[in-house]
Amino acid sequence: MCGIVGYIGNKNVFPLLLNGLKRLEYRGYDSAGIALWGQNLRIYKKKGKVTDLEEYCSDKDVTGTLGIGHTRWATHGEPSDRNAHPHTSRNGLFTLVHNGIIENYAELRKDLLRHGYTFESDTDTEVLSNLIEYFYNQEAGIDTEMAVRLALSKVVGAYGIAVLARDEPGRLIAARKGSPLVIGVGRGEYFLASDAAPIVEHTEHVVYLNDHDVAIMERGSLTLKNIENNPVTLTIRQADITIGEMEKGEFEHYMLKEIFEQPRTIEETFRGRLRTGQPEIVLGGLMDVLPEVAAARRIILIGCGTSWHAALIGEYLIEEYARIPVEVEYASEFRYRHPVLGPGDIVMAISQSGETADTLAALRMAREKGALVLGICNVVGSSISRETVAGVYTHAGMEIGVASTKAFTAQVTVLTLLALKLAHTRQTIDGEFYHGLIAELAAVPEKARAILSQHLQVKAIAAEISEAGDALYLGRGILFPIALEGALKLKEISYIHAEGYAAGEMKHGPIALVDDNLPVIVVAPRDLYYEKIISNIQEVKARKGQILAVVTEGDHQMREMADLVMEIPTAHPAVTPLLAIIPLQLLAYYIAVMRGCHVDQPRNLAKSVTVE
Ligand code: G6P
Repeated sequence: MCGIVGYIGNKNVFPLLLNGLKRLEYRGYDSAGIALWGQNLRIYKKKGKVTDLEEYCSDKDVTGTLGIGHTRWATHGEPSDRNAHPHTSRNGLFTLVHNGIIENYAELRKDLLRHGYTFESDTDTEVLSNLIEYFYNQEAGIDTEMAVRLALSKVVGAYGIAVLARDEPGRLIAARKGSPLVIGVGRGEYFLASDAAPIVEHTEHVVYLNDHDVAIMERGSLTLKNIENNPVTLTIRQADITIGEMEKGEFEHYMLKEIFEQPRTIEETFRGRLRTGQPEIVLGGLMDVLPEVAAARRIILIGCGTSWHAALIGEYLIEEYARIPVEVEYASEFRYRHPVLGPGDIVMAISQSGETADTLAALRMAREKGALVLGICNVVGSSISRETVAGVYTHAGMEIGVASTKAFTAQVTVLTLLALKLAHTRQTIDGEFYHGLIAELAAVPEKARAILSQHLQVKAIAAEISEAGDALYLGRGILFPIALEGALKLKEISYIHAEGYAAGEMKHGPIALVDDNLPVIVVAPRDLYYEKIISNIQEVKARKGQILAVVTEGDHQMREMADLVMEIPTAHPAVTPLLAIIPLQLLAYYIAVMRGCHVDQPRNLAKSVTVE
């Protein structure tokens, strides 16, 4: 949420900032801005996408070798030129970009108003720029760095910031608490960004800032301190993403690329864990805590958005096979509702980014109450992965499309492995069943490939309903969360109002919506619920609703009953969610493209929600 870039070195900074912002645009894209140090400091900002800023700068002086940039997802103040970052302090001494939320900004603003400061924007960021200036002006001898530290010590909330000071034209200062920042270490040059995406094309040597770190970059030197001015050891690591992962390649959109990557990303998630030879499941990251998890009185899975849907599937799997009670909670609710929680409880956070503010806060709350906190994350080194005692990385690779696809199937893959591992450990399933399911899982990537090879059929179905105003998704059992996720995909990227429902609940409300204008997408493979869902389909048909069904291949009965069908290969119910979601992802994608929507950057959304 919001992307920050910065550079100090000897290269022309403008293209570096602009390309960096384009790489980070998935984090927010309602306005963008840059500040450049050349002969003097210049600031350009514009409502809209990075390309709008680029166009705006086409006749401007963009020389300079030091600069910062920002792409925004609005929190305080509407998207506008005025509210776009960077923000400069009243007397122009400090210019900064910020990611996060300063929760006590109203109070700080009031104090600053009393001291004669004025504000041009509605943002919390401008408050921070003025606060830094206020401390800088307090006494002689307070330098930029100290002023930044003093101001940050007054801030309640989250920030990742990059600061330029008018009086120190050869310095770039960055600090983080809650919002990620990474520094790329080049030869006599440093790159700063919210994640490694803009950096890896320049250098693979990176430093991940920790909370309370303050980094001071000059040409040829990088110093790391904490907010109390104590030195912090610099650890230079290898970046965990590659340039190849960030290119769209032959695909028109990142989302389509990521949907098509799923057979491979599921294999990546299996790697070293799903052992078909022995056969066995090994979850190295959970090895030390497995006995405790297996003996838990209950497991609480928390997450937001798509990750919450993965958690729901985890609940079905763990309860069904390992017989451990599972609760699934929206992190945003869980953190505030004073849950009964304590030692003996396992809280597992599920998050693609590992930075979602609500999930992180819920996790911290659970840890304070004595629960064992675990994580399933995609981004290596992310806050959630660092703040959990143990966990499993999903290894789906960088996900750029805002609507999550491959990260979801990777999460479900991990939860399936976990459920089976726990079940085997607790002996709630026998060896034969365990081995059978290992083989079923191993077959998933090939089956996923088969589904993807039929993408043109899904595209044709998409054309039939692309004009719809609403859509209803129905599923039962473990496929009910797939109905929720299918509906979420559609609404996120096509802006069609879509609802997911447990098919058995349809009679209790949504059936009132059914008429000949309503497409009803039913997830109906041959499973335990087959007969039941046939009844639900008949109920819809009796009211002239249009049925699109995800069915097991060769199911003639369904083919006759439904108006349109998307086939998936026969599979065990435990692995069917991994297959059934793929046609629904494709359906949402094609509909959104047909409606002319910006698939990779849907309106109002952001990939990583680092604010409440
Ligand atoms: C945002 C994204 C969703 C994602 C959710 C949770 O809303 O747009 O795609 O599912 O955050 O994110 P996380 O990184 O915690 O999985």
